[in-house]
Amino acid sequence: MENFTFYSPTYFVFGKNSETQTGDMIKRFGGSKVLIHYGGGSVVRSGLLDRVKESLKSGNIEYVELGGVKPNPRSGLVYEGIELCRKEKVDFILAVGGGSTIDSSKAIAAGVVYDGDFWDFYSGKLIEEALPVGTILTIAAAGSEGSPDSVITKEEGMFKRGATGDAIRPKFSILNPALTQTLPPFQSAAGITDIMAHLYERYLTNSTEVEVTDRLIEALLLTMKHEGPRVIENPDNYEARANIMWAGMMAHNNSCGVGRTQDWNSHDIEHELSALYDCAHGAGLAVTMPAVFRYVMKHNVMRFAQAAVRVWGCSMDFEHPEVTALEGIKALSDFLTGLGMPKNFSELGAKEEDIPALVESLCCGNGRDGKLSGFVTLDKEDCTKIYKMMI
Ligand code: NZQ
Ligand code: ZN
Repeated sequence: MENFTFYSPTYFVFGKNSETQTGDMIKRFGGSKVLIHYGGGSVVRSGLLDRVKESLKSGNIEYVELGGVKPNPRSGLVYEGIELCRKEKVDFILAVGGGSTIDSSKAIAAGVVYDGDFWDFYSGKLIEEALPVGTILTIAAAGSEGSPDSVITKEEGMFKRGATGDAIRPKFSILNPALTQTLPPFQSAAGITDIMAHLYERYLTNSTEVEVTDRLIEALLLTMKHEGPRVIENPDNYEARANIMWAGMMAHNNSCGVGRTQDWNSHDIEHELSALYDCAHGAGLAVTMPAVFRYVMKHNVMRFAQAAVRVWGCSMDFEHPEVTALEGIKALSDFLTGLGMPKNFSELGAKEEDIPALVESLCCGNGRDGKLSGFVTLDKEDCTKIYKMMI
């Protein structure tokens, strides 16, 4: 196991009607003037936004609002949010929605207290200071409710890039699984896929002797395998939603990733797809992961074979472990398509002729040096081959 530090101070309020505690939570973490940030309208239609405002009003907490966050959130609204917060002297950001809304909130929180362009953080600068952020989560997926990360797309060049720093870990996150019951099946499935990707990206490690995190990851993958089909079949299944929601948080607050190197090449390769085609991140991952895994499998066949046996119930072929490894990758891919996820480029809306542009942006865009590091280091030629495998 590698040395590590782990700081995960988010206060979680989990369960039915937990959003009624929003005002109390904001006070607890020192907020007096709040920006309520939300997406394209699902929280308006569900009545959640009104309930949240009620909670703030009854705590005599002032607020301003900024809606309109798009899936794959854009830099334009972040600049708008920063300006609004400065003008209104906002001291707390409340994200009400999914990963996109939370990520946009984190970007605003970091940008408000920074003299330069907030995009510096999405070009490699660590976020060391930010306004406090709280979240009310409406989709189990990105894990941003417990993570130190934010992913934003810059309209100029359509670069989709991540920023990180413990300063943007939410101060509190309110997780009411019932709020996810209004999700369309496709979004539920995309969320499940993303959660599983966060687990796989950590499972693909070059560290050895990491039994505790291996076993945690396997447990969470098994949970997703059990609960995923149950919510697709019955979107109102509160208990299945609850298990998925907490698994989504645990998959990405890094409790499963400490002490081990991690991959993240599937994420980087996917981010180019959701930047160019505006597809759901999870849908892009359903197409990306199997291709990447088949491409890099030989680097450590036993890692894939272990997942195949322990998670997917494949029997181990000791003479030909690559057969077992491939069976496991196929089982993952079949599972995701069974939930309703796309399986290739055309189902995703991607085009073969765009591959050179995807590879250029992936490997060299926004200051990158031509290579992706991770479980296996990938250059432009590797990435081209991987995208072609998705056709
Ligand atoms: O915008 P609204 O109207 O709210 O609709 C959203 C959106 O259309 C809808 N939705 C959310 N909750 C709902 C609902 N519809 C009905 N009922 C509900 N309860 O679902 C759609 C997707 O929402 P979004 O916030 O985009 O989903 P998700 O949580 O999957 O976030 C995706 C973004 O997170 C990034 C992704 O790249 C993508 O940009 N990621 C962020 C990470 C992080 N910060 O740690 C890590 C991830 O790997 C990921 O990259
Ligand atoms: Zn993800």
